[in-house]
Amino acid sequence: MWDSEFLLRVLWLVVCQAAAGSWSQANITSMLAPQADRVMVLGEWEERWQADRIGFHQPQVHKMLESNIDKVLAGRTGVRFFFPLCGKAVDMKWLADMGHSVVGVEISEKAVKQFFEENNMTYSEEPVPAIPGAKVYKSSERNISLYQCDLYNFSSSIEGEFGAIWDRGSLVAINPRDREKYAALIMSLMAKDCRYLLDTLLYNPELYTGPPFFVPDEQVHSLFGNSCDMELLQSVDALTDRHRAWGLDYLTENVHLITPKSV
Ligand SMILES: C[S@@+](CC[C@H](N)C(=O)[O-])C[C@H]1O[C@@H](n2cnc3c(N)ncnc32)[C@H](O)[C@@H]1O
Repeated sequence: MWDSEFLLRVLWLVVCQAAAGSWSQANITSMLAPQADRVMVLGEWEERWQADRIGFHQPQVHKMLESNIDKVLAGRTGVRFFFPLCGKAVDMKWLADMGHSVVGVEISEKAVKQFFEENNMTYSEEPVPAIPGAKVYKSSERNISLYQCDLYNFSSSIEGEFGAIWDRGSLVAINPRDREKYAALIMSLMAKDCRYLLDTLLYNPELYTGPPFFVPDEQVHSLFGNSCDMELLQSVDALTDRHRAWGLDYLTENVHLITPKSV
């Protein structure tokens, strides 16, 4: 039988944990407050592509993907990679050239077509019956399929689950109020052995409205921590003149490795 002192201790522990949880949630909410209501509609992204205002695009393979690729692959070959909000990231070709397959989702048709054209790849184009209005563009030479649609219309029923995800310019680009919905979608796309590399940005959100948006590590934990283990792999000073022109005084880029908890 449990004595009453033991029961009181257990009760006290439960109360303390609940208080700590709600304190940390309140802390996250207050950190996010400056950008909480910022909304980019899909048409604004298309306008940026049409006006070539795509300062986020990098012509080289992303350094933090390159330096952490061994941890993502973990000895596996022929991994199925998912690129949410893929833009025309050259990382997709880099991975496909290594024998992996890539599925990306991007709203801008211009971005998708430019990806294939700039990388000298021919491609086919077909409608996606399960997603009204969507098209899928498939490379003829490599294993790359890019879905031109709203990410929130994509699901595991379209392409199954993935063994790896490279999330650069994606969680930090979606509207802050959609992060829970986004995390649920990403987790639904993760196979049991999935290794999800997530790139986030830390800066003072009072100084810049975004995107890209500020995503604190505490929120990464609250979004994914119930179902996933996570490790901060790398943290670098990423401040450049471009960011100083936005008004920022510091910018830290963090890369997290997120994996489903084994049951
Ligand atoms: C910041 S860019 C990053 C692109 C790419 N990941 C990279 O690293 O270059 C975000 C991209 O997401 C696209 N996008 C934004 N919201 C989207 C949505 N709901 N569904 C699909 N694509 C979206 C934009 O058109 C844009 O190309």
